[in-house]
Amino acid sequence: MAADSLIRPAHAAEDWTIPQNWNAYTTQEHAVWDTLFARQAAMLPGRAAPEFLSGLDILHLSRPGIPNFEELSEKLMKATGWQVVAVPGLVPDDIFFHHLANRRFVAGRFIRRPDQLDYLQEPDVFHDVFGHVPMLSHPVFADYMQAYGQGGLRALNFHALEKLARLYWYTVEFGLIHEQDSIRLYGAGIVSSFGESVFALDDPSPNRLQFDLERVMRTRYRIDDYQQSYFVIDSFEELLHQTAEADFAPLYRRLESLSDISPNAIIPSDRVIDRGTQAHASCKR
Ligand code: PHE
Ligand code: FE
Repeated sequence: MAADSLIRPAHAAEDWTIPQNWNAYTTQEHAVWDTLFARQAAMLPGRAAPEFLSGLDILHLSRPGIPNFEELSEKLMKATGWQVVAVPGLVPDDIFFHHLANRRFVAGRFIRRPDQLDYLQEPDVFHDVFGHVPMLSHPVFADYMQAYGQGGLRALNFHALEKLARLYWYTVEFGLIHEQDSIRLYGAGIVSSFGESVFALDDPSPNRLQFDLERVMRTRYRIDDYQQSYFVIDSFEELLHQTAEADFAPLYRRLESLSDISPNAIIPSDRVIDRGTQAHASCKR
């Protein structure tokens, strides 16, 4: 996760990394990980993309509990050349992109409390590692994440970060993918959430729309509740092709004259898979 205008804590290195301090985790903290892991691992078969499910193997380390980043990085390095490094929380955008561009995934080291199993606003080690690392062991997705980091550094020059961040949100965090006859989950924010793993696929409330790069980059998103629209890609190869191999400069220019789209809207050019009732969002207002 990234943000602007943050002050680097004194204990963090220049690249904002800190030691994970794996030995400092308590038995109770490891137990929270194990509880969350067992719950998600049991519900995701048939829901998560096969690429995510096979990527889960990478999290089986020599000991149960919160993964030791060094041991995890060694395995991930062999699979796709990625590493996991600990950071204190949000890091500045340029630092975040720089790590991604160098195949380092930045993860929080703290874990939620036992009374926060279902919901947490800020990403903890369960979200960051369980949610993101399995896909990083997939070669095509691993390349996409690196290209995104490079694209992020480029977007800073174009002052187009808000637009590019929406791509991350609607793919890396909340993406869905077509499999043979069904839709599956791959976004880290969904697969690390018990409630949203059901909601994103089965609930009649949200829109499910065919992925379209320009459309996604115009779409605002909410950070306080389940998403009101999800975008469905056809394959990771196609996603990589449409993004990494494209020059975003003309797209950023075009987007300047196009209005933003609200999170629940459907526009005439959309290829609609499911038109949502939006009942979930309306009942809270
Ligand atoms: N190709 C994009 C650009 O020209 C960068 C990018 C790559 C963005 C992959 C997202 C994902 O800026
Ligand atoms: Fe995340």
